Amino acid sequence: MRFAQRMGRLGTETAFEVMVRAKALEAEGRDIVHLEIGEPDFDTPANIADAACEALRAGATHYTPAAGIPELRRAIARDATARRGVAFDPDDVVVTPGGKPIMFFSILALVDEGDEVIYPNPGFPIYESMIQFVGGTALPIQLEEARDFSLDVEKMCDLITPRTRLIILNSPHNPTGGMLARADLEAIADAVRQHPDLIVLSDEIYSRMLYEGEHVSIAALPGMRDRTIVLDGFSKIYAMTGWRLGYGLFPQALAPVVARLMTNSNSCTAAFTQLAGVAALEGPQDASERMVDEFRRRRDVIVRGLNALPGVTCRMPKGAFYAFPNITGTGMSSRELADLLLYEGGVATLAGTAFGSFGEGYIRLSYANSIENIEKALERFKETLARHAKPRGTSRAKTAAVQSAAGKNGATAARARRTGGRAKAPAGANG
Ligand SMILES: Cc1ncc(COP(=O)(O)O)c(C=O)c1O
Repeated sequence: MRFAQRMGRLGTETAFEVMVRAKALEAEGRDIVHLEIGEPDFDTPANIADAACEALRAGATHYTPAAGIPELRRAIARDATARRGVAFDPDDVVVTPGGKPIMFFSILALVDEGDEVIYPNPGFPIYESMIQFVGGTALPIQLEEARDFSLDVEKMCDLITPRTRLIILNSPHNPTGGMLARADLEAIADAVRQHPDLIVLSDEIYSRMLYEGEHVSIAALPGMRDRTIVLDGFSKIYAMTGWRLGYGLFPQALAPVVARLMTNSNSCTAAFTQLAGVAALEGPQDASERMVDEFRRRRDVIVRGLNALPGVTCRMPKGAFYAFPNITGTGMSSRELADLLLYEGGVATLAGTAFGSFGEGYIRLSYANSIENIEKALERFKETLARHAKPRGTSRAKTAAVQSAAGKNGATAARARRTGGRAKAPAGANG
């Protein structure tokens, strides 16, 4: 079949592919600890699920306005105004099935072929995928471990040209757990104000999953409200990944344009899900707070355990629920280690390169799993390293290690052998 050329530029999110591979291993009888996918292991709080059931019974089964029901847009604007300290109007809100479409729609609405977009690397892979898909020029800015996974603002500002349309920020950050400090955001805002056509897409989906410091939204800095798109949603903080409910807070002129993209693609977000969103924002918040407290405990366990492993060092993440250890001391590449951990160790993680080229030398572990499972994963990690760690600088063929692990694991492993342990992805894909 002949595909449109742009499909060759579409990337992917490796987490979903690793999850499929891990589940295939489980179907063969293997015991796998899942630290690959970025979703809370908690159930959605009961008051939210009850609200959805009631909404369904009351007939909330029809189309809604493309930008979302007025009650939810009002609740989101109220919540965002209170949390960020800058006024948002319900008309600025567009509700979408998950936070992800906000990336796609913002880039579609703003970026013409050849326009430039600056985005974090390592970073959420869909940013780069979407930039390239629409024919934009992707300009990665490295998040540096030495800066506690923040970025060099001066270097970032040097990348800005008259063709730069969008700067994508993500704080707290996936995959590193790093955060952007107020001073850095102020410096970025200064640069943005000098370029009238430049907009910031601020991905704040983890803004309530903080273990230290304060969350600062660049939208709240002077003059930035109308130059910023805030991406947020219900997936993480209310453990609602499968519900598909997110939103964007847009500059006034942009919200109706993005609503038109909703009309053209989804028509609307599911009606009963939106009513559950109202219950989430207006109901008690203690379940979310308890979940964040539990993530903090798990963070401490996983980071301590990782730092005790030979050849592994891990910074303390400040937010989200990911650890991003430096594994260069093991002598293995990110991919090599992630494949060994999965096929031999029975621990599903992601290679740092799933988040871009500057992710080499790291792996990502989601600690949205029980302390018992995290401890089991750390023990397996230790055993795997004891069998395979090699002094820095030696270069055993990657496939040899994967093959020896894959050889023990039947059909899935044979597939891994054929692909070098790699899920097939179109050109341009991360991972
Ligand atoms: C940084 C970041 N932004 C956005 C999303 C999208 O979330 P949703 O499931 O609401 O589409 C994710 C999900 O993993 C994420 O990590």
